[in-house]
Amino acid sequence: MDEFDASRSAARMRDAESPLTGLRERFSVPEDTVYMDGNSLGVHGQDAAAALERAVDQWKEYGVEGWTEADPPWFDYGERLGDRLADVVGAKPAECVAANATTVNIHALVGAFLDAADGTRVVVNELDFPTDHYAIRSRLRVRGLDPDEHLVVVESDDGRTIEADAVAEAVDDDTAVVFMPSVLYRSGQLLDVEAITEIAHEYDAYAGFDLAHSVGVVDHDLHFDGVDFAVWCSYKYLNAGPGAIGGLYVREDHFDLPPAMAGWWGNADDTQFDLAPEFEPARGAAAFQIGTVPVFAAAPLFGALDVTEAAGVGELRAHSLALTRYLVSLVDERLPECTIGTPREGERRGGYVAVEHPDAGKLSRALRDRGVVVDFRPPNVVRVAPSPYYVGFEDVWLAVDEIREILDANAHLAYGEDGEQVT
Ligand SMILES: Cc1ncc(COP(=O)(O)O)c(C=O)c1O
Repeated sequence: MDEFDASRSAARMRDAESPLTGLRERFSVPEDTVYMDGNSLGVHGQDAAAALERAVDQWKEYGVEGWTEADPPWFDYGERLGDRLADVVGAKPAECVAANATTVNIHALVGAFLDAADGTRVVVNELDFPTDHYAIRSRLRVRGLDPDEHLVVVESDDGRTIEADAVAEAVDDDTAVVFMPSVLYRSGQLLDVEAITEIAHEYDAYAGFDLAHSVGVVDHDLHFDGVDFAVWCSYKYLNAGPGAIGGLYVREDHFDLPPAMAGWWGNADDTQFDLAPEFEPARGAAAFQIGTVPVFAAAPLFGALDVTEAAGVGELRAHSLALTRYLVSLVDERLPECTIGTPREGERRGGYVAVEHPDAGKLSRALRDRGVVVDFRPPNVVRVAPSPYYVGFEDVWLAVDEIREILDANAHLAYGEDGEQVT
C-alpha cells in the first residue's frame, strides 16, 4: 500500500485529478470560508437559485394561471420532482413525491403505517434526531397508545453506533413499525438499511427510514431493499436551500393505504378541482401530499437536481467516501488528541466525520471564527462534512490544519463552555 501523503500539495493534486472538481463552480461557497456544514445546510447553488428566480418571474407573468401555464406548471411540482427524486433514492417514479417538511412526513407516514399494522409498537433508537421521536410519540397518542410503552428505544453500546443485532432484539410480534435514520446525525454511522428492513419484515412489521443525512450523497436502493417508506429533506446535501420542500417514498405495495393526514393536494389530479366532500386519493406516493405545494420552497429543487443528476449519485458517493477517508487519515496523522467517532469502514460511513475532542464546543467556535464552518454536537463532537458537491481535498487539508493550529496555540481555550468567547 502507498504511504499516506499528508502534504497540502498532495491534496491539491488529488483535487486536480478528481472527476467532480468542476461541480464546485456551480456553487457559491461563502467567501473566505472552508464550508464543512453541508449536512446541516447546503450552500447556494446557481442552478437552484435560477430555478427559484424563474418561478418568481412566472408568478409575475402569469398570476394564478401559473398553476397550469408556468414551465413547469406549479400544479404538479410534487409529482414531477418525485419522479426525479426516485432516481436519487432508488425507487420507481410513482413511489416518490416532493411534499411537506421532513417532520410532517414522519407524522404522515408513521401515522398511515401504524393505522395499517397489526402491531402497536414503533422501534426507534436513542441516537435519533429528536424530531423523529416527538412526531412518533404524538402519532402514538393520536391512536390512544401510551408513548412510554409503545415507543421502543434501541440503546447504543458505545454512544455512537446502532447495530442491526440490537434492532433485532427490540423487534417482536407487537412491532408495527421499525423507524430508523439512514445515517446517525451525531456520529455519521450509515446503518444497514437492507438488514434492518429484513428484520422488520421477519415480524411482519413495516420498515421506514429518515434519509435526511444521506439523500443526495449515499446511493440508496430503497425499492430493491424492500423498504416500506422513507422521508427526507432537500436542504442538506441536495442543496435546495433553507426550508426547501421535503420528500417521501412509499413502496408501491402500499399505494392503497389511506393517508393518515389527508388533504386536498393528495387527491387524484383529475378530480381535485371537483372539490367533492369525499377524498379520492391519488395513485401512489402523491396521495401523501397534504396542502398546496409551497412553490417557492420547491422550485429550487428542480435546479438542485440538475446538479445531482449531472454528477450521478454513484459518483457523488464515491467522491464523498474518498473525501471522508482522506479526512480520517489526516486526523489520525496530525491530530493524535482527537478520536474518530464515525465507523472507519466505508460501507458504515455516511457523508461526514465526527471528530471527537473533550473541548469540541470551544474548538468548533474557534474554527468558525477562523472561517472553517463546522458544527458542534454535544458533548464532544465536531461534525466535519466535506460535501462532494463543492468541497475538495485541499479544503479538508485546510480544516485539519486549522484544528492543528488552534490546538497548538490553545486558541480554543479563549471560549467558554457554550462557545462564547470569554477572553
Ligand atoms: C435526521 C433528521 N431528521 C429530520 C430533521 C429536520 O426535520 P425538518 O426538515 O422537518 O425540520 C433533521 C434536521 O437536521 C434531521 O437531522
